[in-house]
Amino acid sequence: MRIIKAQDYDDLSRKAANIIGAQIILNPTSVLGLATGGTPVGTYQNLIKGYQNGDLDFSGISTVNLDEYVGLSPSNDQSYRYFMDTQLFNHVNIAKERTSVPDGVASDMDLECKRYDALMEGLNGIDLQLLGLGMNGHIGFNEPADIFEKTTHVVELSEDTVNANARFFDNIEDVPRRAITIGIQSIMKAKKILLIVSGESKRQILDQVLNGPITPLVPASVLQLHPDLTVIMSV
Ligand code: GLP
Repeated sequence: MRIIKAQDYDDLSRKAANIIGAQIILNPTSVLGLATGGTPVGTYQNLIKGYQNGDLDFSGISTVNLDEYVGLSPSNDQSYRYFMDTQLFNHVNIAKERTSVPDGVASDMDLECKRYDALMEGLNGIDLQLLGLGMNGHIGFNEPADIFEKTTHVVELSEDTVNANARFFDNIEDVPRRAITIGIQSIMKAKKILLIVSGESKRQILDQVLNGPITPLVPASVLQLHPDLTVIMSV
């Protein structure tokens, strides 16, 4: 495990983008696992700058996102597909058909989970997985639970997560109560993992994640077992 202490959020965002940028330069056909939430926004802005100044070429890159709210269509401005398009994909030369986000409005969610797992298999797994950290230790939408869910699944969001994500919605009632997320096994199968954590409010949970027992009650604690984990923190 590598732990990099960033000076502040801007520093964290530049460092994360530099690591992802290096991955793109070293392997222009990389499969990137991408995340949503507030933390990666600055990272994506720096990746866009890297594209604009000619350093980064996304034309051969494929991406797989971690999760999506159940019930939100891609045109809903709170959906994670909308987030990815507006925060990154629309601003770089990536082929949209090589970007994947789970379908939150699929008519058969079980089938959608299977489709998404097969899609990741077809891409031969993820080369570099970017992760944020939920306040309760979740990664993607793998919430604290009795077991580590292995594969893509639909999850009931915990009250903590609904409350934490309400800041992005007009009303807390508008926050979807269910989401579809890739599983812990798919995350752990990524060749490299980059976890970015920002803000004093995450200090305690980050300590549990990195130094506490490995338990599905703190889903991100499983990352301690990953052979190539980099953590960038400004907490
Ligand atoms: C959401 C996402 C997670 C993300 C988390 C933290 O719940 N599903 O992938 O890591 O939010 O978000 P933030 O970076 O805004 O704290």
